[in-house]
Amino acid sequence: MRSMSVRKSGKATEVVESVEEMRGRVAGLRSSLRTIGLVPTMGALHEGHLSLIRAARRECEVVVVSLFVNRPQFGPAEDYDMYPRTWEEDLGHCNSEQVDLVFSPPEKMIYPAGFSTWVDVERFSTVLEGAFRPDHFRGVSTIVTQLFNVVTPDCAYFGQKDYQQMLLIQTMVKDLHIPIEIRGCPIIRESDGLACSSRNRYLKGRDRQSAVVLYRVLQLAKQRIGDGCRDFGKICYEMKEMIETTPNCETEYVEIVSPETLQPVSPRDESVLAVVAVRVGSTRLIDNQRIHLG
Ligand code: PAJ
Repeated sequence: MRSMSVRKSGKATEVVESVEEMRGRVAGLRSSLRTIGLVPTMGALHEGHLSLIRAARRECEVVVVSLFVNRPQFGPAEDYDMYPRTWEEDLGHCNSEQVDLVFSPPEKMIYPAGFSTWVDVERFSTVLEGAFRPDHFRGVSTIVTQLFNVVTPDCAYFGQKDYQQMLLIQTMVKDLHIPIEIRGCPIIRESDGLACSSRNRYLKGRDRQSAVVLYRVLQLAKQRIGDGCRDFGKICYEMKEMIETTPNCETEYVEIVSPETLQPVSPRDESVLAVVAVRVGSTRLIDNQRIHLG
């Protein structure tokens, strides 16, 4: 186990790199009846991640952050190799946020030779993101299950930025009777509205400005719905038009769906979820906004 230099108040963040050691640490914490909060991440930490860590810090006695770039959730043509890896910076953030343990196992420990067990949450894994990224959610639910089994947290923190992922994990813990509370945390944005994302680091030059269109189209949807429009097809059409007239931007999908089912809005829904996926140059970004109909 490694540890950062000691911070001003309290202990430094400790880095745990093996499943066995993590189990040992957890057993000790459990015997002293301490509540454990887990924040699963792929590193390249930003304000969005830090908001999850702060929520865990407020609610739990022990905070564990996992840093693991999970290969199976990336498609073969996706950015696994170039995904930002900023280990020293990440550890600095964890230390400043008073994270107790960072869990960062080697890939071979999580996916050893002969690994063949996958968790598939059928209900939410094939629409929206799942339609464009086959196997993505199978990779997510499998790593999250492993993290849950090793860390055995009381609570785990997920961002609404990846709303579909959060819904999928909530479904998984319910279906499989996993005794962990899933906390959904609000989307953190840059000052111009762009949702914080590790992939924002890819945006260079004018693409950074263009990327704000994701936020702008969600605001447009909110405005139209606020004005009383219930023709969601028409609103999506306007959103797409705005994206397609922004330099270097291409729509992957724009939809307004039920926040409970991710299916078309039903008359029972009190709110809707506007979701967008856009390619800005070669960078793929997603965002969403819940909009009340009342
Ligand atoms: P990653 O993209 O690193 O995100 C880790 C967590 O941070 C997720 O729950 C995500 O929703 C949240 N997050 C990201 N940007 C945010 C923002 N702007 N505001 C609030 N929360 C934000 O999501 C993953 O990693 C992986 O799929 C993972 C769950 C770790 C499994 O590998």
